[in-house]
Amino acid sequence: MRSETIAIHGGYETDPGTKAVTTPIYQTVAYEFDSADHGASLFNLEVEGFRYSRISNPTTEVLERRVAAMEGGLAALAVSTGQAALHYAVVNLADHGGNIVSVPQLYGTTHTLLAHVLPRQGITVRFAESDDADAIARLIDEYTRAVFCESVGNPAGNICDIEKIAAVAHRAGVPLIVDNTVATPILLRPIEHGADIVVHSLTKFMGGHGTTMGGIIVDSGKFPWREHARRFPMFTEPDPSYHDLVYVEAFGDAAYIGRCRSVYQRTTGSVLPPMSAFQLMQGIETVALRVERHVENARRVAEFLRDDPRTEWVSYAGFPESQYHDLACRYLGGRVPSLLTFGIKGGFEAGKSFYDALKLVKRLVNIGDAKSLACHPASTTHRQMTAEEQRMAGISPDTIRLSIGIEHIDDIIEDLDQALDAARPLRETPQAAE
Ligand SMILES: Cc1ncc(COP(=O)(O)O)c(C=O)c1O
Repeated sequence: MRSETIAIHGGYETDPGTKAVTTPIYQTVAYEFDSADHGASLFNLEVEGFRYSRISNPTTEVLERRVAAMEGGLAALAVSTGQAALHYAVVNLADHGGNIVSVPQLYGTTHTLLAHVLPRQGITVRFAESDDADAIARLIDEYTRAVFCESVGNPAGNICDIEKIAAVAHRAGVPLIVDNTVATPILLRPIEHGADIVVHSLTKFMGGHGTTMGGIIVDSGKFPWREHARRFPMFTEPDPSYHDLVYVEAFGDAAYIGRCRSVYQRTTGSVLPPMSAFQLMQGIETVALRVERHVENARRVAEFLRDDPRTEWVSYAGFPESQYHDLACRYLGGRVPSLLTFGIKGGFEAGKSFYDALKLVKRLVNIGDAKSLACHPASTTHRQMTAEEQRMAGISPDTIRLSIGIEHIDDIIEDLDQALDAARPLRETPQAAE
């Protein structure tokens, strides 16, 4: 089945008891055991079934199967937010003393997690100078536990050459983790290009309606943990915290996600509520259609802004002059996600008045909603970064990030047009002209 079909049907068959065609919401904390032995065998992972909703839940499991299939992965773990997914994805394979090598173009909070939070837990993060595979390769050493990138960076809009990055990671014996939030599996399936683990904020395009937080980690099932047992003993040696279970033996190719659930989800509990899993699945059913419209609307907005004398610059990988245009063609089939950045003539102050004048486009920090959204990263999502870190992440003080929604394109452009007009007096002051 293709992703569009999996998004609607994947992971669920009509409930045999009730004949319900829509995934039921199992709003329950626990599941009854047939007997003491049955309970013990569930805890020993000898039989399949549910024990407690901090570990797994039948509604959430449908979401996990669906997204895993959309990404071409083996199995998945859904969690409360995208940030929780990123945190678990890293700590599940990196212990104290390990390091992660990352591209610099990241969502701001992910940068904070990698640059400030993880190092205090003993996992250091090395940021490459750029998303170039050679720059990444130079930083990998015997203590590296993963390479990390966003397939399409937020907000830089850079597109990573996943095949090359996966090749340098694999040559060194480490897995590649890819945040595929902005692209979605509708535009790009990183596992097909060599990624080992894919992470999503489901809060964005996948859910698509700005109503529900969620995150997911997808395990490709392809990374050979046994071959790299010295680097990753947590998968191949007995785990005293789970009566000496050996994850590669208990879970086979799904050892990574099995450990993530059994250790991190079970003990630290960033659980996705079943009601949220249900709502996210409602969104996912239409993700293919929405993304198509997002892509087309963003192209029209990018062209409008590029051709407008009131703007200074527009960053959009769909333009042939973009340094990412070839990668956009190769990895996205030329369908560039609806995240674009631009600067308005008159710099920071003019940008602020443009922002304040928006009427239809919402001023907020989110992306991937059906609604068009705008944010000023330097003062919000990327505020914690230094000026140099912001520059490396693809942000300048005047950057405005747009997440173009699925409204009628003429209404979106009319709103941007009137907001650009509202900033005109500022642009024309002598100070602004200097
Ligand atoms: C690329 C990317 N990854 C992860 C996240 C974090 O997701 P959440 O807000 O669901 O925690 C975001 C949020 O904007 C994001 O843009």
